[in-house]
Amino acid sequence: TKDRNGIDQIVLRNPRGASARVSLFGGQVLSWRTDQGEELLFTSSKAIFKPPNPVRGGIPICFPQFGNRGALEQHGFARKKLWAIDYNPPPLHPNDSSGKAYVDLILRPSEEDLKIWPHSFEFRLRVSLSADGNLTLLSRIRNINSKPFSFSIAYHTYFAISDISEVRVEGLETLDYLDNLCQKERFTEQGDTLTFESEVDRVYLSSSDVVAVFDHERKRTFMIRKEGLPDVVVWNPWEKKSKSMVDFGDEEYKQMLCVDGAAIEKSITLKPGEEWTGRLELSIVPSS
Ligand code: BG6
Repeated sequence: TKDRNGIDQIVLRNPRGASARVSLFGGQVLSWRTDQGEELLFTSSKAIFKPPNPVRGGIPICFPQFGNRGALEQHGFARKKLWAIDYNPPPLHPNDSSGKAYVDLILRPSEEDLKIWPHSFEFRLRVSLSADGNLTLLSRIRNINSKPFSFSIAYHTYFAISDISEVRVEGLETLDYLDNLCQKERFTEQGDTLTFESEVDRVYLSSSDVVAVFDHERKRTFMIRKEGLPDVVVWNPWEKKSKSMVDFGDEEYKQMLCVDGAAIEKSITLKPGEEWTGRLELSIVPSS
């Protein structure tokens, strides 16, 4: 299908009726639904569906830089580029397609990108939806340059939640984190689980490979499983920042929480010819 700007979108469906929608603009997942048709990703009612803006919601990909931790524009350029369908991707080991609906995308730098970031790469992204309705984003980034380069990456996942005061995040206890609200200073998480009562903008460092977002009111839990992605971003703009964002409703911070699988603090370095793989798998489980 095409969106209103003529940009292709790919809809994945599994036999039970779950679905996911991916845009070639940014390689961004814009929707992920259960077999009952319930949307699991947040998209703002004020979102601007027009390039060069990434849509406020879904899963924009921050690459090759996270936030303003570097010389590039905020969150890097990949989320603002037109990706292509990769009709003939190199095989994956182990085979990652069995029983799944999937699409392979690829981003290669344009002349313009090479001027601001002079590194030739191929970024392959496979988005797949399993028979159980789990959504997986598998990235392969290859250095096809003659010199090494380093990058950061985050899958900036906007989860749809009932109410920010009803959710808690588990799996980040006792970790060190960088706080973007305090000159990127380093702190250590003290609490048992993470709950929310004000703006949060943090990068938790070296977490375990499973992080859970409990939504008490909806009686369900998002499970985030990750490989190659040591860090976890947690972001909620809260009241004041929400009002300053043109593509975000004043009260919408209550219905979203960003929890990103990421590699930020220690950037990833690839030698010529080397490839990095990162994997994010999202699922939901009922909880009490
Ligand atoms: C977060 C950053 O991950 O993304 C925040 O840590 C930022 O500082 C947010 O505000 C949204 O970024 P953007 O560029 O999509 O508005």
